[in-house]
Order: sequence, then C-alpha cells, then structure tokens
Amino acid sequence: MDIRRAINVEDLRRAARSRAPRVIFDYLDGGADAEVTLAENTRAFNHVTFRPRGAVAFPSYDLRTTVLGHELSFPAMLAPIGYSGVMFPDGEAAAARAASKAGLGYILSTVSCCKLEDVRAAALAYSSMSPSWFQLYLVGGRAATEATIDRAQRAGYSALVITVDSPIAGNRERDLRNGIKQLLGASTFAKIPYLPDLLSHPRWLSSYLAAGGLPQLQNVIIPGSGPMPLMDVVSALSRAAIQWNDLDWIRRIWRGPIVVKGIMIGDDAKRAIDTGATAVIVSNHGGRQLDTVSATLHALPEVVAAADGQIEVLMDGGIRRGADIIKAVCLGARAVLIGRAYAYGLAAGGEAGVTRAIDILLADCDRTLRLLGCPAVSALDCSYVETRSPAFMQNQQS
Ligand code: GLV
Repeated sequence: MDIRRAINVEDLRRAARSRAPRVIFDYLDGGADAEVTLAENTRAFNHVTFRPRGAVAFPSYDLRTTVLGHELSFPAMLAPIGYSGVMFPDGEAAAARAASKAGLGYILSTVSCCKLEDVRAAALAYSSMSPSWFQLYLVGGRAATEATIDRAQRAGYSALVITVDSPIAGNRERDLRNGIKQLLGASTFAKIPYLPDLLSHPRWLSSYLAAGGLPQLQNVIIPGSGPMPLMDVVSALSRAAIQWNDLDWIRRIWRGPIVVKGIMIGDDAKRAIDTGATAVIVSNHGGRQLDTVSATLHALPEVVAAADGQIEVLMDGGIRRGADIIKAVCLGARAVLIGRAYAYGLAAGGEAGVTRAIDILLADCDRTLRLLGCPAVSALDCSYVETRSPAFMQNQQS
C-alpha cells in the first residue's frame, strides 16, 4: 500500500507487514508471552469514554504543550525503538528528522544503529529547537556507559531516559519462533533458513543490502573491541540490570534531567522523585516485558497521584489514535510517547512513513479537541472523560 493513502495507523501497520520480512515485522509488532498486556494497552482506551461539551466553538485550538521546558506542537514524543535501523536504513535518523519537521521530540534507544551524533544532527534538520533525549541501558558495562553519556552530552541530548523495567529481556515468543537471534547474529550460514522470507520482501532486502547489511550498535562501544553486535544486547541486559542506586553515579556524570521510564506503581514514582528524577514515564514497554501487567492507561492515575505535581508524568503504550493521546492527557499525562504507531510508518517507508504517522495523529488530536469542545490541550482535565468498567463495555457490545 502507498503510505500517502494511509488514513490510520492500522493502514501503516499493514504497509509495514507487506514491506518487512516477517521476522522484522513480528519483532516490532509483537509482545511478551501471550501478549495479554500488548492487547490491553490498546483496549484500555476503549474503557475511557469522552464527555464532550456541546454547542461551543472557539476561534482557534491550541494543541501545544511543553515537556521539561521544550515546546511540542502536540503532546507526543517519538519513543525509543530498538533496532530501528534494521526496519529501515538509518532508521533512527529518519525518525528524528520526521520528529523535527513536526515540532516533536525524539528519544534515541541505546539499541540503535546510527551514531548518536548523526541522529542529533538529523533532529536539527528542520528546527534548532527539536529536543533529543537518549534512552540508556547499561549493556556495555560502566566504562562504555560513561563514554556514551559523555558523547550524548556533547552532542546536545537534553535528557537521559533510564529504563527500569528490563532486568532481562521479555519472553517474545514470536521472536523465538521466527529465530530473530539467528537472523541478526553474525553467522551467514545460520541465515539460510530465512532466505525465502527475505527474498519475498525485495524492497526491504535491497535497501538493507545497499545500506551495508547487518548494522552494529554504534552507541555501545565496548573498550578494546568496538561497537556491540546487535544480538549481544539480549544476554548483556541480564548482566546490566539497573538498580536505584545506579542513578547516583549516573547523576554524577550526566548534568541534565533524568527521566525514569517503566514506572507502573505510585511507590516507584515516589522512589524516582527521591533519586532526583525530573519526570517519569508510565510504561510497560509496550507489553514486551512482563506480560499481564496492567495497561498503562489504567496505571496512569495512581502514578499521577503519587507524583503530586512534583515532576512531569508521561506515558506510553497502546496509542494508535489522536483520541488516545487526548485521553491520556485528560488523565494527567503531560504528553505521551508514540512507539509502534510511528515505527509501522518507519518500517513501511522511512522518514515519509513516520511523517505520515505523525500527520495522522496530529489531525486526530485537532479533530478530537474540536469535537470535545475544548480550546486547548492545556485546558484538558479529567472532567472530559469517564472511565467505564470492562463489564459495562461488554454489555454495550452484546
Ligand atoms: C527493546 O527495548 C525492545 O523492547 O525490543
């Protein structure tokens, strides 16, 4: 499908499925274990219904917000997505450029194939004001991590995002079944079984080969051996499980704000505040880590209450429409991170695909605000929504 004709994120998802080999698409699309949380993250938005104001019209509608002092054109940032460079050549730079063009921020994952300096340059392509944040895993050990933090600082990243929900990688059954480890591993021989899948996706294959084939993790440089191979991250994660006291040494070397990602309960939000975090992200890693943890939209109010206005609260998970973004803001999120919603666009068509995803969500947000009868994102609050129990929703459907 032509991405310019995509009218919603589901269309972009279909386009990604057709361009990318199954093993790549499933990595992006899939979640952990039975994928209960993956489904719940999106379903939770159906349990929150709108309470619109009728017969109101305003001369203009203001979608802007600020996050850690950065102005965003609407309340969204692009989430860190691992292996974006395998989905599309220079995928991280492409996504950062699209974010910059739209007046949004981009968060670069540690599990990235483009050099962080190049991604920052891409983020400045359309605006010198576009924020870039760096998401940190400690997978390369302390010396490598310190070198990465130093590079991020020099390159102009303005916040460090510490992910706290990944002491090990989640059990992604699709990846196990598809053998992503063999495909992205070093052995050419081990790739032979994937040839039919790869050859039946010639557009992906030719751009992958033209870009030089298997990339490496350019932002995890192991002293004495160079960039970390892609697939080493999975085993390295369990040797690098982060603990609260790690934030102390990180704070000694990182001079900017710290954002803690992966908060699902109020007590952890308080812990993050005590360690000096400037913001938290309510996140269950898009349902890719602990399965059957609750949907992030349901976890949001507890975290917002615990944060008590002391820090900004963002959330991710399940956002496929602009109305979802508006609901999250009504329930107390300063902004959301969009993940799969833009990554489908990336896998389908690089920068143009990400731009299409952002345009769709922006138009949705604008329309939703008008239909709600609310003049500005800054005026949204919980009076514009109502949380319905799943049982209520089922009765309505039957
Ligand atoms: C990386 O963070 C992933 O979820 O695959």
